[in-house]
Amino acid sequence: MHERRSTLSEDQRRLSRDRRLEAHDDRPTNPSRAPHFDAVLSRRQALKGLLATGVAAAALPAFAPTVRAASASGFTFEEIKAGVDATHHVAAGYDADVLIRWGDPVEADAPAFDPQNQTAAAQAKQFGYNNDYIGLAPLDDDRALLCVNHEYTNEELMFPGVGDQEDAGFAEMTAELVAIEQAAHGGSVLEIRRGAAGKWFVVQGSPYNRRITANTPMRLAGPAAGHARLKTNADPTGRAVLGTINNCAGGMTPWGTYLMAEENFHGYFWGREALDAHPEAASLKRYGAPGEWYAWGKFDERFDIAREPNEPNRFGWVVEVDPKDPTSTPVKRTALGRFKHEGAETIVNADGRVVLYMGDDQRFDYVYRFVTEKPYDPSNPAANRDLLDSGELSVARFDADGSVEWMPLVHGQGPLTAENGFESQADVLIDARLAADLLGATPMDRPEDVQPNPATGKVYVMLTNNSKRTADQLNAANPRPENGHGHIIEISAPYGDHAAATMTWDMLVMCGEPTGDVGAKWGPETTENGWFTDPDNAAVDPSGRLWISTDGNRPGSHSDRCDGLWALDTEGPARGSGRHFFRCPVGAELCGPLFTDDGETLFVAVQHPADAGVSKWAEFGRASSFDDPATRWPDFQDGMPPRPSVVMITKQGGGRIG
Ligand code: FEO
Ligand code: CA
Ligand code: CA
Repeated sequence: MHERRSTLSEDQRRLSRDRRLEAHDDRPTNPSRAPHFDAVLSRRQALKGLLATGVAAAALPAFAPTVRAASASGFTFEEIKAGVDATHHVAAGYDADVLIRWGDPVEADAPAFDPQNQTAAAQAKQFGYNNDYIGLAPLDDDRALLCVNHEYTNEELMFPGVGDQEDAGFAEMTAELVAIEQAAHGGSVLEIRRGAAGKWFVVQGSPYNRRITANTPMRLAGPAAGHARLKTNADPTGRAVLGTINNCAGGMTPWGTYLMAEENFHGYFWGREALDAHPEAASLKRYGAPGEWYAWGKFDERFDIAREPNEPNRFGWVVEVDPKDPTSTPVKRTALGRFKHEGAETIVNADGRVVLYMGDDQRFDYVYRFVTEKPYDPSNPAANRDLLDSGELSVARFDADGSVEWMPLVHGQGPLTAENGFESQADVLIDARLAADLLGATPMDRPEDVQPNPATGKVYVMLTNNSKRTADQLNAANPRPENGHGHIIEISAPYGDHAAATMTWDMLVMCGEPTGDVGAKWGPETTENGWFTDPDNAAVDPSGRLWISTDGNRPGSHSDRCDGLWALDTEGPARGSGRHFFRCPVGAELCGPLFTDDGETLFVAVQHPADAGVSKWAEFGRASSFDDPATRWPDFQDGMPPRPSVVMITKQGGGRIG
């Protein structure tokens, strides 16, 4: 049953969970092959005269000076140093304060956090683990609802005396520990208010405060709702699901709802021995399910595919939550397709339709777009309630001539027919990956956040990395073999039309150390602190400037620096120049960058602090655990484990950030 343990190498076993996702569990499940690079290169060279780059300078012969004279950058803050230590750092002149931590109270009757004696009942009312996406639904200028995803759990850092559950063959896990994990997943909605010095605080006991967990009742809606493949023993309607899991990034809609993207849902399911004879075998394999990362299938039968064959089909969706109604039932919007959704960022098109950009975060998987059928109506909230149930899902093909084709995933069109296994639109949506394979979508280097910039009409695609891409699998949009560093693509919507069938693309940056031999390409003002690897989430501030948070800069990794936040110029002579603004404590990745509408507060989510894994730094070069963590950030109290936390950043004396 516990193949995962036996298939791990010694090196993999020493990796943190986060890195293991990349090294082992997040292995590509797309059997497609990209066109050969020589072919696309020659075509592209003929058309554009250069290899996929709009970066002002090619790989730099040396770093830009740290002190900039006559900078062309749109940013003026003083850059911090890249590096590794136990705490966080922010640029001079700014404050970075913890707003809320794992275990802090959310619901009014939440008990005080006691990590030595945690219970599922307490966790279900407290702030969850591994905060990721951050969204904001303003109530007025100084009151808002903060919406935060809780992506996954690290048992070795959460529970005293418990090591990595896979390494132990799940022997240390109990029904109660699994229930705590389930309660630590999902999301939180919190009322926050702005007080003295422009700093926000959580309103304790607010009726808006709400936890959403892996057991919260939800509704399935849209074209696949009620389909036979979504029915289970517990739900013969195929419309009622318990919970949401692995909520990574997300989005906010123009009508103020919160979108939670379900990413690596496959890791929670058990039943590998049942896979080959399973009625959903081909579909499950394309999604890498069952992954058997957690012990959930041991104690909760719906996470065992042998006992509930269709339960995996009820995850991998985008969930819509109305944060202003704490009694509302979250809705899984099947029209947006089923895959490992990183996020779901929205923009209102000029014609009023709402466009969502979405990445499917796995090596060799795809970038998607959804365009609502009807326009958004700001004057009629009721008309927007089910806007995400009808519209067109499409997948991107990045061509070597610099164009992007959005190919519709519509039943009956092209190869998406019964002869190819798609009996209806429900099948197309449940098996969006298989449908996109048939359409010839471009296999990407792990598409993460896809961020539109309303100020410019441009869209930025974070591609974290793909160390598995071989030299015969290159394409113009993913031009590096063994891409351990990632890159960022810029898409331009023609005349700002985000519903257009054809757009153009260019390379903004190719990540990694500029002076190394990894093919990095950065703008001319990039200093030794300004480069990064593994772009994951992005935010556009109210001035239209781009900010990037990372997941993969680690001691002992391909970048000897901690993850954090970098400002990235996109316009003018400094285009492609990074500037380091915020640095995580050791072991953490940074998620959820989000600016308030006035640009005076920046919220960031510090995820899995102390998940250090292998390190070349002696002080962190050990397995990290609850009892002996690499850092006890942010409390630094004996006995208190590290706590994933949302941090708010403000400028001392007030004013816009950046
Ligand atoms: Fe959950 Fe793709 O990061
Ligand atoms: Ca992410
Ligand atoms: Ca984003």
